[in-house]
Amino acid sequence: MTPTTGFAAIPPVARVTGRLRVPGDKSISHRYAMLAAIAEGESRLTGYAPGADCAATLACLEALGVRVVRRPLAGGDTEIVIEGRGPRGLRAPAAPLDAANSGTSMRLLSGLLAAHPFTSVIGGDASLSRRPMRRVIEPLTKMGASFEAADGRPPLTIHGTSLHAIAHEPEVPSAQVKSAVLLAGLHADGRTSVREPVPTRDHTERALEAFGGRVVRDGDRVAVDGGQRLRAITAAVPGDISSALFWLALAGGTPDADVVIEGVGLNPSRTGVFEVLRRAGVRLEVETTGSAGALGEPMGSIRVRSGRPASFEITPEEVPLMIDEIPGLAAMAAMQPGVSMTVRGARELRVKESDRIAMLARGFSRLGIAVDEYDDGFTIRGGPPTGGEADAAGDHRLAMAFAIAGSRASGPVHVTGADAVAVSYPGFFTELEGIARGSR
Ligand code: S3P
Repeated sequence: MTPTTGFAAIPPVARVTGRLRVPGDKSISHRYAMLAAIAEGESRLTGYAPGADCAATLACLEALGVRVVRRPLAGGDTEIVIEGRGPRGLRAPAAPLDAANSGTSMRLLSGLLAAHPFTSVIGGDASLSRRPMRRVIEPLTKMGASFEAADGRPPLTIHGTSLHAIAHEPEVPSAQVKSAVLLAGLHADGRTSVREPVPTRDHTERALEAFGGRVVRDGDRVAVDGGQRLRAITAAVPGDISSALFWLALAGGTPDADVVIEGVGLNPSRTGVFEVLRRAGVRLEVETTGSAGALGEPMGSIRVRSGRPASFEITPEEVPLMIDEIPGLAAMAAMQPGVSMTVRGARELRVKESDRIAMLARGFSRLGIAVDEYDDGFTIRGGPPTGGEADAAGDHRLAMAFAIAGSRASGPVHVTGADAVAVSYPGFFTELEGIARGSR
């Protein structure tokens, strides 16, 4: 059942109960690793996201001269020790950097590399090579760096230099773009600011403060002064709420479910999805138990129980705060007869790890679910799925969404390309099998 070949037979799930934990947060892991690399001193991270995306960030940093030690700990976790090289301390890489499938690695590292006085090349896999990079190239070029990129897509050649501050207003709300500009701004002369009419996840701001940096937040603007020095940290990365969402969706869509997820990050810029789950009839109890080493990332536990299922919509204003959760929410709608989910204003989904609107519609229809596709969203009508074969299209979140919905199907479900889950959640199928076994 475990997809060693990328082809997974999905185990049927009858009941969902118990307690579980999810892997470390991907967004926070990328940021802690990158800031550790340019800080002074030795940072120690536990709970670092185990997926391929965050491994790509570490490999790129190593290629940039950063010493990274991975120390296995009892219980399966690994301590990541990163020796900071200080501001503008990265070294020219000997070969092109490989960001693999990770848009966050490529965009955020571009911000750092723009400020280093050498030329580097950063590329990725076929999916990443299709993703738009002009959104970081433009502001970083205004700051003084220069780029070569055919059609604004990877691979990028980055000619770094001394940067000057800018005031940037991104065209699309994007935490990655905001973060790339702020990371570059750390090394620029003057104050670099980003205006965000629609807020996006603020992990970079919180991480900068954790590393002793200063961030100025003023209404919808966030700014950093250049020339700051960062200090190494010791931190535990909280569980990834975007991974937890798949279990929230499975429990939310399964009668009599009762699940507790422990140690999850509860940053308010990531928990917008709770409101949507509640509208969909899911019962949630959220308890904040602490923060990740007092580093400004709240964490806690979520108890999820199924309630009275209701159809739900996600409005365009809500989309940026739950962009990664949409496939999981679609899975929850898909498994419940009489329930529909509509999302609009989500055109950004078309430039994620796959064209998530087209590929989600295609995959769910293969499982016997009705999906209307729009330019900027979709409506999905609950079945449950009758069974069939869905293709993850190289996209980790689609693989998990099809598997979750498939576990509640009336007939057998297979997911092809299921090994894509390794990007963010390598243990996903083991966990699903455990839940399925427990429900027999
Ligand atoms: C991320 C930001 C989001 C999100 C991605 C991770 C981040 O992308 O979809 O999975 O860590 O900053 P955008 O900035 O493109 O919206």
